[in-house]
Amino acid sequence: MKILVTGGCGYVGSVLIPKLLNDGHKIISIDTKWFGDYLPKHKNLNNLKLDLQNINKLKIKNLDCCIHLASIANDPMAELDKNLSWETSALNTYNLLEFLKKTKTKRIIYASSGSVYGISKKKRVTEQTGLKPISLYNKVKMVTERIILSYSKEIETFIIRPATVCGYSPRMRLDVTVNALTFSGLHKGKINVFGGKQVRPNIHIDDMCEIYRFFIKKNRKYAGIYNAGFENKSILEIANIIKKKIGSKIVIYNDKSDPRSYRLDSTKITEIGFKPRKNIKSAISEIETKYNKKLLKEKDNYYSLKWLKKTLLKKTFI
Ligand SMILES: NC(=O)c1ccc[n+]([C@@H]2O[C@H](COP(=O)([O-])OP(=O)(O)OC[C@H]3O[C@@H](n4cnc5c(N)ncnc54)[C@H](O)[C@@H]3O)[C@@H](O)[C@H]2O)c1
Repeated sequence: MKILVTGGCGYVGSVLIPKLLNDGHKIISIDTKWFGDYLPKHKNLNNLKLDLQNINKLKIKNLDCCIHLASIANDPMAELDKNLSWETSALNTYNLLEFLKKTKTKRIIYASSGSVYGISKKKRVTEQTGLKPISLYNKVKMVTERIILSYSKEIETFIIRPATVCGYSPRMRLDVTVNALTFSGLHKGKINVFGGKQVRPNIHIDDMCEIYRFFIKKNRKYAGIYNAGFENKSILEIANIIKKKIGSKIVIYNDKSDPRSYRLDSTKITEIGFKPRKNIKSAISEIETKYNKKLLKEKDNYYSLKWLKKTLLKKTFI
């Protein structure tokens, strides 16, 4: 298949694209490369530094699928520049969809976020649950979903609402829960927990990528919205799993600044045949192995917010 991946140089894209190449697909990746470029060279990969807002410069047609990952990808980053957040996700997605329509692309698979449900104490947060996004990031994701769904008659639309992703990637993110706590335990010998009661769903990065591969192949009749998160755990529970595995101490701070708390119910995706193969424990082990082999070190660009503040905003907006 010929597949366009937006945001292909990001945390998820850097694991996904090698898997897609291994499957024999031809890939066009477009990315601003804010956090660098860790993609391998490959005869079937056209790796372009291109802002989604210039999507019309792409001279391609007959795409089978677009996997749309490009976004400002967490809550604090979205707050850095509100206009940029709306432009990057919502406006650029509108431009992308017009482009996909014009080039007669068959399918789009969109990385939304499980956080569109907002704070919820419900045990079962399914795709039927109403959305109550609380942060700008969540609201942008919700609106972007709606833009994509408005093209459902012309393009097969698959919306994925992932949990927080965990595990190793060549473009590492040390600002997502499991990765951050594990790295801190390994590197500093302590796991800092702020609050700790907040419940978050999790998904291993390999399962995340498997979901994109699953939906590339799935019959069009399965188009729709899917939650993707398999372990709902409080931050303190996650910290305890890490403590048990790597033996570092937990330090709890009484901090209520991040109240986001929700669970995801992913029965719908499992009922159509998807089964997760990994979990939080596998992510911790893999990160530990990379760290011990000195293949994972602290780098500024692994902290997306810090990096964007230091680079992008300085250059362009301040
Ligand atoms: N990582 C998670 O825990 C998680 C959870 C839920 C949803 N998601 C969503 O999955 C997607 C991928 O997440 P990620 O963790 O790989 O994020 P990431 O920040 O590592 O990757 C996003 C990529 O998009 C690129 N990008 C941003 N704006 C662009 C633009 N205008 N044009 C071209 N490229 C642009 C960035 O350079 C970056 O490489 C995002 O949409 C994110 O919101 C991620």
